[in-house]
Amino acid sequence: MTVRVRAPGKVNLYLAAGRQRPDGYHPLATIFQAVDLHETVTVREADALSLTMSGRGAGLPTDDSNLAVRAAKLIGEAAGIQPNVEIRIDKQIPVAGGMAGGSADAAATLVALNELWGLEYPQDELLRLGSRLGADVPFCILGGTALGLGRGDVLTPLLTRGEYTYVLTVQPDGLSTPRVFAEFDRLWPDAPEEPQVDERFVSALVQGDVSFVGANIRNDLSESALSLHDGARAVVECHGRAAIPAFVSGSGPTVGACVGDVEEGEAIARQMSECFPATESLVVTGPVRGAHLV
Ligand code: C5P
Repeated sequence: MTVRVRAPGKVNLYLAAGRQRPDGYHPLATIFQAVDLHETVTVREADALSLTMSGRGAGLPTDDSNLAVRAAKLIGEAAGIQPNVEIRIDKQIPVAGGMAGGSADAAATLVALNELWGLEYPQDELLRLGSRLGADVPFCILGGTALGLGRGDVLTPLLTRGEYTYVLTVQPDGLSTPRVFAEFDRLWPDAPEEPQVDERFVSALVQGDVSFVGANIRNDLSESALSLHDGARAVVECHGRAAIPAFVSGSGPTVGACVGDVEEGEAIARQMSECFPATESLVVTGPVRGAHLV
């Protein structure tokens, strides 16, 4: 039997970060939105565990450092099953781009093996396993739009209105998340212990006030990410000259702008590609559902 699962990437529409905790993580008050850029993970029984990656994943490590491999081992251990499976990942989400690509691989692998092995773990159990693999993995399982507290893994789904369209400008290279957080610590030594979410922003999402949302996206990691990546900074400045509010996705270096519709997004994407030939600009929409069978 072959099982195929798609899991979405995300943008953070709001990310308030606090002072580093003793466990090394940073407390967050963040709002994730899943967007229609997906990882497709296919699994089937085999004699041994193996992983192959295509698309943006070609050439990435396929050993234990890969989150999909760790996901297979973790759910196998929980179920008491040797994870002798062949995993194939077709990757669309930028690598190390601040869009949770690796987390989506892990999320899809958990959902796929739950199905392949007939485990019937409820979503809560998959979320719990996911949070052991990484802070963004639970959201990639859940999808939609959600508030994330704790490390970003304590989730409350938000019933939002409206469709959101973004132009995302992807850099040829990535940024290391721990490095961006370390830079955040350096820039903001007095960050609060308990970051808060802005209720007006949540209300705008719930009411579908797309223009308010687009104009008020906040990310406390922006300065840190941009100070480590001149290419991403140039993209933000270019949007600024056109009076388009731009934002950094997660820990970057992907830069997004919330636009009125796909047509406007495609026009901006073409301009970005002309100005920054080394980058790739994609038009995506959200929210979309979390990891699901296809
Ligand atoms: O959980 P995950 O492995 O995706 O996180 C990668 C790294 O990002 C962590 O090791 C930590 O350095 C940083 N991080 C953090 N606070 C968070 C999430 C991630 O400091 N809430």
